[in-house]
Amino acid sequence: MRRKIAAGNWKMNGLKASIGELEALKASSEGATCDVILCPPATLVAAMADVASGSGIVIGGQDCHWNETGAHTGDISAEMLADAGAGAVILGHSERRADHGETDGEVNKKSVAAWRAGLQAIICVGETEGQRDAGETLDVIGGQLNGSTPEGATATNIIIAYEPVWAIGTGRTPTLEEVGEVHDFLRGKLVARFGDEIGNGVRILYGGSVKPSNAAEIFAVSNVDGGLVGGASLKASDFSGIVAAAN
Ligand code: PGA
Repeated sequence: MRRKIAAGNWKMNGLKASIGELEALKASSEGATCDVILCPPATLVAAMADVASGSGIVIGGQDCHWNETGAHTGDISAEMLADAGAGAVILGHSERRADHGETDGEVNKKSVAAWRAGLQAIICVGETEGQRDAGETLDVIGGQLNGSTPEGATATNIIIAYEPVWAIGTGRTPTLEEVGEVHDFLRGKLVARFGDEIGNGVRILYGGSVKPSNAAEIFAVSNVDGGLVGGASLKASDFSGIVAAAN
């Protein structure tokens, strides 16, 4: 049995005043039987890790550099995130791939860096609308998974997030059949590469317009082990409904 995960991605949203949402989430998710991860902007990681301490909620980063230190102005290393109290980091989100030209090879190196610092790597894959329309979805996702995931993956050091680019922030979601097709495909790929135990142990999240109203049906699809949630993770009142659906 894989334990489900409700993961929130605040993207470039949140000021110190937003830390109250975490306080509320702590209260509302007490006793949750799923794993809860919240990834605020880097400026809030340390403060939120302090607030989350003892609650079981893991605070994560949204990106990291593959080096530990050095002349990389504006970048943050995995060790810095860990030092700030993070336990996980999102890597290869489609917005980073699009806005910063991140490649599978870079995501792979960043994942190794995350492990070096003791962080779980949440590795994102997903097709664009054009790729889906062209029937390329599984090819694209298979290639991203292979290229972005390093050797040495275990059931606990990676989490895969399937996020169709066209479903992110749009209110549109694939059908449950389409979600299941991709998640079954990803499961098969993980088992083929890493063997039964690891391949069947890795959690595969769905992301893209997950809301309290659709979370339960999406999380019930085969091989969907929870969600990576953007907009609906910003308010504890919404996100706690998604945590409840993952319990
Ligand atoms: P969304 O974003 O839930 O706002 O669609 C999901 C994500 O990009 O992780």
